[in-house]
Amino acid sequence: MAARILITEPIVDSVIENLQKDYTVDVGRRGQFNSVDALCEVIDRYDALMPMLSNPITAEVIEAGENLRIIANHAVGYNNIDIEAAKNANIHVANTPGVLTEACADLTWALLLSVARHLGPAEDYLRDDKFDGWDPLGFLGRELYGQTLGILGMGRIGTAVARRAKGFGLNIIYHNRTEVDAETEQRLNATYVPSPKKLAARSDILSLHCPLTDETHHLVDGEFIEQMPGHAILINTARGPVIDEQALAEALHEKRLAGAGLDVFEDEPKVHPSLLDAPNCVLTPHIGSATLQTRRAIGQKAADAIKGILNDRDPSTIPNLLTA
Ligand code: DGY
Repeated sequence: MAARILITEPIVDSVIENLQKDYTVDVGRRGQFNSVDALCEVIDRYDALMPMLSNPITAEVIEAGENLRIIANHAVGYNNIDIEAAKNANIHVANTPGVLTEACADLTWALLLSVARHLGPAEDYLRDDKFDGWDPLGFLGRELYGQTLGILGMGRIGTAVARRAKGFGLNIIYHNRTEVDAETEQRLNATYVPSPKKLAARSDILSLHCPLTDETHHLVDGEFIEQMPGHAILINTARGPVIDEQALAEALHEKRLAGAGLDVFEDEPKVHPSLLDAPNCVLTPHIGSATLQTRRAIGQKAADAIKGILNDRDPSTIPNLLTA
């Protein structure tokens, strides 16, 4: 009997079709598996699971998945999966590093440019038929050239954001758990700053690219925001809970920060109501990796890990496994 795979939501067709050649594949409906109960109800029927980042793969789900051999997240971030529980149950976990780097870096820049140049309100103004001629004082924004961009988390995506920043003529400073190698620092012309708060204090623009962990949960809280210059812009394309949204919304409303661009939220799909009407705040619905090319590559990378494990490949030859 062919092994059974559950893909919790519709993804790019070609990835599903590819898996269907060798396996029985069930695909859930949008949002169907966003709860532990929904997953626990069916998970024992499957040998492999491809969850979305919105699916809570808790210890309870893992225990219920008694036939599971691999969980291949359809994302690079894997804070939705209890990795320890999976390890203890001898279930492999995979993610999708590398393939979404450029798409996420592009979106970071889209947010940054949009906040700095008031693209949202300017477009609304035009569409609302208020454009009555060139205005010498209309929508005055911020010039990026010569500003200092702080990058918190200099992994693949942070590095790709820094690469783009060079072209825009920004000075680059960064903080990372470990300093990146000297050759990369030199290539990016990036300077290491020894703590996140010091980085905040020196950045005209601060962009978050760190994973969500116990250490980074609410890293950007009221106290952190106080370190940031009043003219600073904050961008988050990493994970919502890295920011205390209440504290950020207050700072924006009180003009203690110049603006924010957010693609991720603490309690997705909910957005903190005070962010919705905060001044100079651009909000997008977690679309960092949303290009067809990238979403196909994400699906394929997760699918390849599933195939590898179901075909009894040596796990050490599957590069995107998070667990041995
Ligand atoms: C990820 O993969 O972690 C992104 O947040 C969504 O594509």
